[in-house]
Amino acid sequence: MYISDLNKLYTVYKGVYVPTHLHPAESLKFYEEFSFRPDDIIIVTYPKSGTTWMQELVPLIMSGGDPASERPSPRMFATHFHYNMMPTSFFKVKPKAKVLYVMRNPKDVFTSSFHYYGMASYLVKPGSQTEFLHKFLEGKVVFGSWFDHVKGWINAEDKDRIMFISYEEMIMDLKDSVTRMATFLEKPLEDAVIEKIADRCVFKNMKKNKMSNYSLVPSEFMDQKKSEFLRKGVFCFNDVHTVDCKFY
Ligand code: A3P
Repeated sequence: MYISDLNKLYTVYKGVYVPTHLHPAESLKFYEEFSFRPDDIIIVTYPKSGTTWMQELVPLIMSGGDPASERPSPRMFATHFHYNMMPTSFFKVKPKAKVLYVMRNPKDVFTSSFHYYGMASYLVKPGSQTEFLHKFLEGKVVFGSWFDHVKGWINAEDKDRIMFISYEEMIMDLKDSVTRMATFLEKPLEDAVIEKIADRCVFKNMKKNKMSNYSLVPSEFMDQKKSEFLRKGVFCFNDVHTVDCKFY
């Protein structure tokens, strides 16, 4: 049962499982031949580390806080691929496109993933928490091992093109995080605009927003009656807190 689900739902790309539904063979071919441009902006995350959050924040930063802007350029992308899975043009095109890499504490990534695997039909069912923990630690989940992902990106040869930020920093001070991202993206913003962006992107407001809460995704792909996509939006960072949070 598990093996057949796995063969049906996942494709192995460069040694890592990717969901076939999102990355069919023709899309992987397109990806390999893809040409990045110097002004592209690329959000990179291991799944469940704040991708959707960044997808709301970065366009708002680039449009100066205007959610209705047409955004002709620069182009903005988000990917879960490891550093060594990036296509040739990512390394060759100069000047190099900027990358925003978001990291999240793996304990929280694990918890968030466990709930997500239970509700998304294009992923192999997680099994028990213990079973899923083994798969997570061994990288037998989509986009492989959290540890390899983070290690690959933090050891990148071209770190000057990458801004590293953590989910936890963003939770603790979103305004400061937006300010730093705007500086990195060479898009200085006034305080009032930063405040507006941060307010629009706090968890409770994004949860209400149809464009970011995934309520428009058909329930046969994501059954939000089982677990909401924007689920808790918190972190259990230190061990004392983790004891309180248990498996929240
Ligand atoms: P939880 O399941 O812990 O709540 P991704 O977009 O990479 O799949 O990550 C999803 C995780 O980011 C979910 O975590 C989700 O709730 C959280 N998230 C999304 N938007 C957020 C926001 N504005 N503030 C805090 N967490 C957010």
